[in-house]
Amino acid sequence: MAARRALSAAVAVALLAASASADSWLYEKFTTDGHVRADYNAQGQQVTSLILDRQSGGAFYSRQKYLYGVFSIQMKLIRGNSAGTVTSFYLTSGDGPGHDEIDMEFMGNSTGEPVVLNTNVWAAGDGKKEQQFYLWFDPAADFHTYTIIWNDRNIIFKVDDLFIRSFRRHADLPYPGGKPMSVHATLWDGSFWATQQGKVKVDWAGAPFVVSYRGYSADACTPNGEGKPLACPAGTDRWMSRQLDAAEWGTVAWAKQNYMHYNYCEDGWRFPQGFPGECSRN
Ligand SMILES: *[C@@H]1O[C@H](CO)[C@@H](O)[C@H](O)[C@H]1NC(C)=O
Repeated sequence: MAARRALSAAVAVALLAASASADSWLYEKFTTDGHVRADYNAQGQQVTSLILDRQSGGAFYSRQKYLYGVFSIQMKLIRGNSAGTVTSFYLTSGDGPGHDEIDMEFMGNSTGEPVVLNTNVWAAGDGKKEQQFYLWFDPAADFHTYTIIWNDRNIIFKVDDLFIRSFRRHADLPYPGGKPMSVHATLWDGSFWATQQGKVKVDWAGAPFVVSYRGYSADACTPNGEGKPLACPAGTDRWMSRQLDAAEWGTVAWAKQNYMHYNYCEDGWRFPQGFPGECSRN
């Protein structure tokens, strides 16, 4: 009896370990900074929380750098009053001048007011390419999947199953195509710009603020040393030449028409010398 119980306990432990390791992505792939907590849900899925209080926010960033790939994560945003907070999932080549970056950032809002998703592309240090969207669901009520597809033809932003933006490469215009990037997720106090241009600050009475991430995946190539070809997983044609088809351009148009909050290509005040080249070519 005792032996049997011990055996089944061992089996249970083995099963738990198997299911946990299958989805243990945080410490395997990322370095953490600030307030970060990793738990497992009842399905054995790792759920990482970033926590923001007066002292600090939280972040995790990949040790590996990538050059092209599909990067996806599920996020459940701060409930209630999230004004002034910024929650992100993005790729960046680093901090230096001329850096490349691909952003999905959520700007919090007062209770009952809509969160805004900022999408942006930085190429050679220029990042004035924001398109911002309201969401068609409450991003704090449940997990939703946010995906960045990055290849040498375009960058595509996806929310759950719907494509909301495609940023195409044009041979004569800057494009993030040469610098490897790492994957970052952060939660920070963005009071000075996030909510209604900084008019609404973080209300610390509501702290700590918590964002949860799960189901991370990177199907991506890695640089393989100077002058060598990239090291890519099998079957990269799934995404290496991925572009939107007509139906998918349809969802981009739908998002633009119904949920767009800001489009740099329509902000004439900001570009008195004329819009960036890609604005007239998409
Ligand atoms: C917050 O809510 C206000 C009022 O509905 C809205 O105008 C604004 O775009 C929302 N988002 C941010 C980030 O300020």
